[in-house]
Amino acid sequence: MDKNYYEVLAHDVNRALVDGLDPGKGTLEEAIFYALSVPGKRLRPVLFLTFLNAYGIEAGDYMDIACAIEYIHTYSLIHDDHPSMDNDDFRRGMPTVHKKYNDAIALLAGDTLLTMAFERIARAPLPPQKTVNILKILTSGIGIEGMAGGQALDLEFSGDKELILSIHRMKTAELIKASLLCAAEAADLSPEEMESLGEAAIAIGIAFQMADDLLDMYGDEEEVGKKLHKDQQNQSPNSVIFFGREYIETEVNRYYGRTMEILERLGITFPPFLDLMKKMVFRTK
Ligand code: IPE
Ligand code: IPE
Ligand code: MG
Ligand code: MG
Repeated sequence: MDKNYYEVLAHDVNRALVDGLDPGKGTLEEAIFYALSVPGKRLRPVLFLTFLNAYGIEAGDYMDIACAIEYIHTYSLIHDDHPSMDNDDFRRGMPTVHKKYNDAIALLAGDTLLTMAFERIARAPLPPQKTVNILKILTSGIGIEGMAGGQALDLEFSGDKELILSIHRMKTAELIKASLLCAAEAADLSPEEMESLGEAAIAIGIAFQMADDLLDMYGDEEEVGKKLHKDQQNQSPNSVIFFGREYIETEVNRYYGRTMEILERLGITFPPFLDLMKKMVFRTK
């Protein structure tokens, strides 16, 4: 029912993402423009905006935050695909940034996207305290205890399957959690509600990465838009390799169920938001 709902949000995000960028200016700006133009799902900004809508808040003043979240995600993907990390040639059905340009430009495009994220947060027309709180939430999700730290553990992974869950949490679920908590900050949720929402976000975020693991093994390459069967080759902490398909499919269901339980307790009933939880984990791309 809500396909159109998400498409409208993603379309607005797509437009705002490249607003003010001039790909004719030089290679770095062209590479950034390229990375932002290839068709991603825009899940994290859509998640953020859908949560705002659930609380009756229009995107308007918060579009800069939505873009900052997607800039951070895009930076993480460019670096994740870099030859020094997963060494992937395709992303979102297109050549990765280091393939289209070169390795050095890919590093700089990632660095610059991260910088641009903070530029946009700084210029968002929000009350200063909200901006500071959003900064705290986002930086804690993407630093040593979050995405970057998780990526480091992912690279160091040497087969200890006990570590997989925390790698999934850090490298993937923490940014998803930060996206939701930024929206919760905008909606003035109480600290207790933020805590519970954070738990729900971690559960759905872990299941989201498990879905990514399943897609790497059993997905359709064209639809997924990435080269598949790479995790085995890279000795990546793919949960399906270490725990088996059936077990992980059951876990995805269990984490989804836990998420829905917490949301119910929080009284969050906005159908497009609940629907998005399902789309995040039962997906084909
Ligand atoms: C891919 O994220 C990386 C993971 C954390 C699993 P997405 O599946 O959201 O990728 P895009 O943005 O749609 O390309
Ligand atoms: C990506 O993890 C996590 C981040 C980019 C932070 P993966 O390496 O498993 O994701 P894909 O499969 O390349 O998208
Ligand atoms: Mg990786
Ligand atoms: Mg990867």
